[in-house]
Amino acid sequence: MARSRPAFPLLPPAGPLLALLALISALCCCSVSVVLRTSDESPWTDEFDNVELTCLIESISTKTPRIEWKKLTRDGPSYVFFDGKISGDLEQRAVIRDPATLFITNATRSDTARYRCEVTAADDLKSFDEIVIDLVVRVKPVAPKCSVPKSVPFGKSAELRCLEEEGFPKSQYTWFKDREEVPDDPRANPRFLNASYSLSADTGTLKFLAVRKEDAGDYFCRAKNDAGYAECSAQKMEVYDIDVVGIVLGVLVVLVVLLCVSVGVCCAYKQGYFSVEKTTGNNYKVPAKGDGLDYVRTDDEGDFRHKSSFVI
Ligand SMILES: *[C@@H]1O[C@H](CO)[C@@H](O)[C@H](O)[C@H]1NC(C)=O
Ligand SMILES: *[C@@H]1O[C@H](CO)[C@@H](O)[C@H](O)[C@H]1NC(C)=O
Repeated sequence: MARSRPAFPLLPPAGPLLALLALISALCCCSVSVVLRTSDESPWTDEFDNVELTCLIESISTKTPRIEWKKLTRDGPSYVFFDGKISGDLEQRAVIRDPATLFITNATRSDTARYRCEVTAADDLKSFDEIVIDLVVRVKPVAPKCSVPKSVPFGKSAELRCLEEEGFPKSQYTWFKDREEVPDDPRANPRFLNASYSLSADTGTLKFLAVRKEDAGDYFCRAKNDAGYAECSAQKMEVYDIDVVGIVLGVLVVLVVLLCVSVGVCCAYKQGYFSVEKTTGNNYKVPAKGDGLDYVRTDDEGDFRHKSSFVI
């Protein structure tokens, strides 16, 4: 402070320097450009919550810039904020917060889109800037549709399916058997150690290659995404034995079929040979009669033709 006081009296001689400074600042003033910035390029919110699409003006010299917001959809851009008013879907749900931030209340799934903040500053050298913000509104999954086979024969394959289509981003699926999570790898849990299945978290399919007695139980599925999760109610899958009835019946059926087929083939083979010879014998005789008739007919036709040709 003591030093700065003697500095003041020195100023008048530095008059030309001040003028230069004024000139530089004037030049700077005219060369100012409008520059936008955002604190979050890809914000997200859960459905029915609020979200802010920040559009900050980093530099500007124009006092009243023109601010516009557009929603960029597949059908092209549409106005969200124009001429000082919010329009479209967001009409009752959004406001502009100083300087150009778009604040959306009660976001819905259809708000998921890219939005563009555009600022036009007429008095600036570079008079336009824009910034694009990618908004994701996450949607909680609804209870998935689950299909669990009621009863599966021992040793056969079985497929359990789970599907949920509301959630955004897309749901991932987990299966539970008797309230215990079915692990991706059966070896991860001793209770599933000897099970043979494949599990897809993306498609929601739990596929047993060969069911065991131990695979019987109550199954339910959970659909989950970043916004939350939902479950279907548990359904029972039973495994029945076909060892006793099935295999004996199967073998019997196979035997009967084999017997029938072999007898059939044998008979057909034998009879077929005799009948072929017999029928060929007959065929010679039958056409002989037929030939006679044919000749008669052709004769008639021939006569007719002769007559008709004669007529012509
Ligand atoms: C939010 O929007 C949904 C429809 O999209 C409506 O049912 C609900 O009442 C709204 N909630 C509020 C707090 O405005
Ligand atoms: C898995 O199989 C092995 C032999 O095949 C058996 O000793 C073991 O007890 C089985 N474990 C379970 C959990 O079923």
